[in-house]
Amino acid sequence: MIRYTTFAVAVGLTAISALLTIFWPYFWIAFVFFGFFALVGVHDVRQEGHAVLRNYPILGHLRWILEGIRPEIRQYLLESDHEKVPFSRDDRAIVYQRSKSAEDKRPFGTKVDVYAAGYSWITHSVLARTDVPWDTRVTIGNDQCKQPYAASIFNISAMSFGALSGNAIAALNKGAKMGGFAHDTGEGGISVHHRNGGDLIYEVGSGYFGCRDDKGNFSPENFAKQAANPQVKMIEVKLSQGAKPGHGGLLPAAKISEEIAEARGIAMGQDCISPAIHNKFGTPLEFINFLAELRELSGGKPVGFKLCVGHRREFMCMVKAMIETGTVPDFIVIDGKEGGTGAAPLEFANHIGMPLVEGLSFVVNTLIGAGLRDQIKIGAAGKLVTAYDLARIYALGADWVNSARGFMFSIGCIQAQACHTNHCPVGVTTQDKLRQRALNVDSKSKRVAGFHKNTLKAVAEIVGAAGLGSPFELQPKHLMVRQKSGETLSGAKIYLTMPPDALTDGVAVEESYQVPWNNARTESFRPFEGMESLLYN
Ligand SMILES: Cc1cc2nc3c(=O)[nH]c(=O)nc-3n(C[C@H](O)[C@H](O)[C@H](O)COP(=O)(O)O)c2cc1C
Repeated sequence: MIRYTTFAVAVGLTAISALLTIFWPYFWIAFVFFGFFALVGVHDVRQEGHAVLRNYPILGHLRWILEGIRPEIRQYLLESDHEKVPFSRDDRAIVYQRSKSAEDKRPFGTKVDVYAAGYSWITHSVLARTDVPWDTRVTIGNDQCKQPYAASIFNISAMSFGALSGNAIAALNKGAKMGGFAHDTGEGGISVHHRNGGDLIYEVGSGYFGCRDDKGNFSPENFAKQAANPQVKMIEVKLSQGAKPGHGGLLPAAKISEEIAEARGIAMGQDCISPAIHNKFGTPLEFINFLAELRELSGGKPVGFKLCVGHRREFMCMVKAMIETGTVPDFIVIDGKEGGTGAAPLEFANHIGMPLVEGLSFVVNTLIGAGLRDQIKIGAAGKLVTAYDLARIYALGADWVNSARGFMFSIGCIQAQACHTNHCPVGVTTQDKLRQRALNVDSKSKRVAGFHKNTLKAVAEIVGAAGLGSPFELQPKHLMVRQKSGETLSGAKIYLTMPPDALTDGVAVEESYQVPWNNARTESFRPFEGMESLLYN
């Protein structure tokens, strides 16, 4: 019975060392050492929870030890440079290097398999340019907006105070201040740590944190107070995030500090719930009217919303409501299914919501078809950390890119994936005062600004290599993508299909747009009675 050998040896050695202690008193150390293991063995064979331990007393514990250090073994010893789990070693390394303005070149040539399906590249020009400015700005705010905002084309995506530590928030905001770019608050309200002078995008989630009444409903007065803050440049309503669309959030009572309670406008000592849906609106018209109300209450600051595309028809309901009311939001942020979160159920993290590339091209095409593209700026987020990630997404129609985990890497995240445990080893996603002390705000804020600047400098190089003068000149035709068949197609063939105003002018378009458009209505997100399409949602 090999499986009991370890246990038998421990018991045997305990007995022997007990005997030897009579003659050599120092053997008590051996007696205690082996005795401990013998006791563990006794516990293992008697306990009922784990069959492995009953069959392999003492030895079975190795299983848990190895399981416990498996992520580290994988990350430090086994992971290849390109394995995206979720971000590859190469991706993380380039962020760390650009954050420190360290050498970020690569020797000897690409390690990427350029003949693999899905491989994509940007076409360059013989007339390459070297005069492309890196600090390109995009003005967000259509003619219904009184205070348009000249934003950077690369900003910090929403991450709430609560999911992130106070020091992390402060480092991000100080970095945004230094680099002149924006920092999205996330749905946890505006905290003391956000007040470091960096431009803010105030996110209003279903919990209405910072702008709620004592019952948790939206409070126009409290909202107006927050929106009047000069640091607040834009207002974003969060409908969903890619990592957990249609799923609310919960911040356990244990993680709620006085600072979090103050920022959110909630009581201490009870779990803080972000409902899965908003209670302020329930129909497309109510939603669009809510955006108009927020613009009014904020003194005409740019207002928009963030979503991960779900049912295509529901997004088209919103677009039809924009046309019917004449209220057009200033921007839409599309989050890809591949986006991140502090914590989400496995199935949601893996299989609910549309990936970024599909979501972006769907929204761009729908707005073009509805004749609204010129009035609405588009932001995109979802695993975008290298300059090529950004350039590709600009080419597919985004006006700016948001990154969350990229900036987490810039303040020291090592992808330990312990965000949900409060035991983040580098003080980024924890409310533990001692752990977050490890994150030095001043030195990390310089890294945040460094990552931003050096990434955009690399984007400018790519744009110049393509012979263009600005990222806005990148188009789907500049992208080439290898299909499973091995054939390569231009991005314009794959992603851009909608003729301008085709949807509103009733020009027939491809079915996957036509059917949900026909089924979309403004007075409800639900399809017409009996009109449910079997093909498209
Ligand atoms: C720790 C963490 C917290 C987040 N909190 C929010 C949030 O409060 N509101 C929101 O809209 N998105 C939230 N997100 C999603 C990000 O803003 C972003 O859209 C998504 O992670 C994709 O970007 P990335 O791939 O660069 O991380 C969070 C993401 C992370 C990693």
